Amino acid sequence: MADTAITVEKARKKYGGTADRYALDGLDLTVARGTVHAVLGPNGAGKTTLVRILSTLLRPDSGRVEVAGHDVVRQAYDVRLRIGLLGQHAALDEELGGHQNLEMFGRLYHLGARHARVRAAELLERFGLADTGRKPVKQYSGGMRRRLDLAASLITDPEVLFLDEPTTGLDPRGRAEVWSAVRSLVGGGTTVLLTTQYLEEADQLADRISVVDAGRVIADGTADELKALTGGDRIDVVLRDAGHLGAAVALLPVPKDDVRVDPDRRLLSAPVTDRMAALSGVVRALEEAGIEAEDVALRRPTLDEVFLHLTGDDRRVKEPA
Ligand SMILES: Nc1ncnc2c1ncn2[C@@H]1O[C@H](COP(=O)(O)OP(=O)(O)O)[C@@H](O)[C@H]1O
Ligand SMILES: [Mg+2]
Repeated sequence: MADTAITVEKARKKYGGTADRYALDGLDLTVARGTVHAVLGPNGAGKTTLVRILSTLLRPDSGRVEVAGHDVVRQAYDVRLRIGLLGQHAALDEELGGHQNLEMFGRLYHLGARHARVRAAELLERFGLADTGRKPVKQYSGGMRRRLDLAASLITDPEVLFLDEPTTGLDPRGRAEVWSAVRSLVGGGTTVLLTTQYLEEADQLADRISVVDAGRVIADGTADELKALTGGDRIDVVLRDAGHLGAAVALLPVPKDDVRVDPDRRLLSAPVTDRMAALSGVVRALEEAGIEAEDVALRRPTLDEVFLHLTGDDRRVKEPA
């Protein structure tokens, strides 16, 4: 079987009516089998449009799109047999327990009664819901409900699973629960494509990341490769007194145009080329000027800074709430 689970070449899509720009504008993407691939981008970047095209719910205007070895336009039926989509089953029955809901989906997909029951139990176990399988879904927390959605999307044991913003709207605890559920899929050999606005989510879950903006991939690689794009490490300086931030920016031996200042955290952050020289230079300059620092540290850039570097706009991607 091919090593590639998803191939997208120059996909374009413009919605009808008055849309004046392409939702997908020549998007390219390759996802290797058995990997987790994150499509990271701000609201309106084209993530849902991409997922709808990959899952055959929407046709591309042009370009080549293949999933699990089949063309999404010409062989839509073959694709549908091999994929799962989170959120597909919006209709969980609130009064029924998780187990009954999954059993129902199994029957819907023509599993026999016994097989449906076994599969439901397996999936509940796998997503840490075995103990609450009898509890009505209306009593589930956000994280439990999303894990049950995830279990439902796996009833048919799909080769490729699409998760469109799987943790949006969840609190940090629910998000952590869904992350560990997604990690457990990888061991089973499923290929996962997930979209997210959360940098940390892509960093935590994905083997590779495609950064998408305005319907195109603007960067592609592992989290480390993307971080390396910004040109290396950064130095963070936390001052005792936020009033000295301006003076510190002026006198520190760092490039001025890429310095970021966060008065609330009394923090100044700048890219560095020579780590040790920057560290000692900064400490000396602060000392000579009599400016007190609480902390001076070298670190790798975050994906947030990568996005800023790539797009020149840091207000459009979010850190998790
Ligand atoms: N049904 C639709 N009709 C018209 N325009 C749409 C429709 N769905 C999405 N769009 C537009 O297409 C672009 C991409 O949207 P979408 O794929 O939903 O992005 P994302 O999921 O990354 O937020 C946006 O500009 C959005 O306004
Ligand atoms: Mg979306």
